[in-house]
Amino acid sequence: MTAEVNVDVELIAPHGGALIDRVVEGTEAADLAEHAKSLPEIRMNAREAQDLEMIACGSFSPLEGFLARADFQTVVDDGRVANGTPWPVPVTLSIKKDTATPDRIAAGRQVALRAPESLGGKLLAVIDVEDVYDVDKQHECEKVFKTTDVKHPGVAYTIDEMGAMYVGGRVQMFERLPKPFPEFHAEPRATRKSFRERGWARIASFQTRNPIHRAHEYLTKVALEICDGILIHPLVGYTKEDDIPAPVRMQCYTTLIDGYYPKSRVMLSTWPAAMRYAGPREAVLHALSRKNYGCTHFIVGRDAAGVGNYYGTYDAQKIFDELYSADEIGIVPLRFEHTFWCNGCGSMASTKTCPHDEKQRVALSGTKVRELLKAGTEPPPEFSRPEVARILIAAMKA
Ligand code: ADX
Repeated sequence: MTAEVNVDVELIAPHGGALIDRVVEGTEAADLAEHAKSLPEIRMNAREAQDLEMIACGSFSPLEGFLARADFQTVVDDGRVANGTPWPVPVTLSIKKDTATPDRIAAGRQVALRAPESLGGKLLAVIDVEDVYDVDKQHECEKVFKTTDVKHPGVAYTIDEMGAMYVGGRVQMFERLPKPFPEFHAEPRATRKSFRERGWARIASFQTRNPIHRAHEYLTKVALEICDGILIHPLVGYTKEDDIPAPVRMQCYTTLIDGYYPKSRVMLSTWPAAMRYAGPREAVLHALSRKNYGCTHFIVGRDAAGVGNYYGTYDAQKIFDELYSADEIGIVPLRFEHTFWCNGCGSMASTKTCPHDEKQRVALSGTKVRELLKAGTEPPPEFSRPEVARILIAAMKA
């Protein structure tokens, strides 16, 4: 039975004011698909195709397409699109230099966008090209990733995998990508509807690219203490090789939620874009996108969206104040100190709440846990619930 929509619940406005919808359906989609066959093509890489999905369904509102030059420049330099609306990371489509010819891919033309073979290889969308432009990638990386070190996965992608020129313009998507986890797929319109049905007004969101360990669980439960519900929203697009694969993580999330969360106050759904590892800038992207799904609060802990030692532990929290005002961000960042299990407290804690000595604290890094798992050793229950640890060990052995 479908619950009644609770019209009394007024949800947060999407970023920029309106939820973007660039999906074309029915006969219009069939006509556009036919028309696309006659157009020059760009074959996207997997990240670009996933970004197209995010734009089309409104997850990246207010973006209506891949960034054109003016927006790209202000996004890179100031973390805003040209009209001043906060937008922290470039969402771009690239081509090789020799592909941009005036009779094929140029301003004012329409171009068809094709998925890579790994995602089915179909024609997906049409872009109305606004401009095709050269990029200073060193500058882009310096501003967005705070480094030009090619060991940084976001820098490596930008320099090595993206073409030399970017193509900007609005998109219309007539064919959707296969959903990575169909039963957990919910786009912004769907989550907003669910929140209304559940009568949730204060909704926390939790971005993660890891299995939920005790520290993560603690953050989500503290958030649950002050909100009506939580959207556990794991990123399931591209992650680097040594991150735990999404199918294994999904198993961990469902098992953990079954055993340790009140079902009526949790929603598990996927966020199908790539991880950029842009630290502070990416934490803002993650937050703004969750606002589009209808969430009012966003958890930001230690080194959110970071990698290696490129960012300070709390840079991803500071950016919310340093670059933006609370009003223009809209969704409320829930900032957390580094949390750990403390034997002295007999509970999860942080330096804000725990008076005990370092020696009493069990604080394992993701890297340390991966090492334990590789060696077939279960991480201690103070770090990871045994049910989750067992899934991870089994996955390592498979
Ligand atoms: S992320 O790249 O998706 O941000 P991860 O999955 O590790 O990384 O973390 C998800 C969220 O939990 C982030 O907000 C991160 O800052 C936070 N977090 C992870 N571990 C801790 C911890 N021990 N203490 C506080 N916050 C943490």
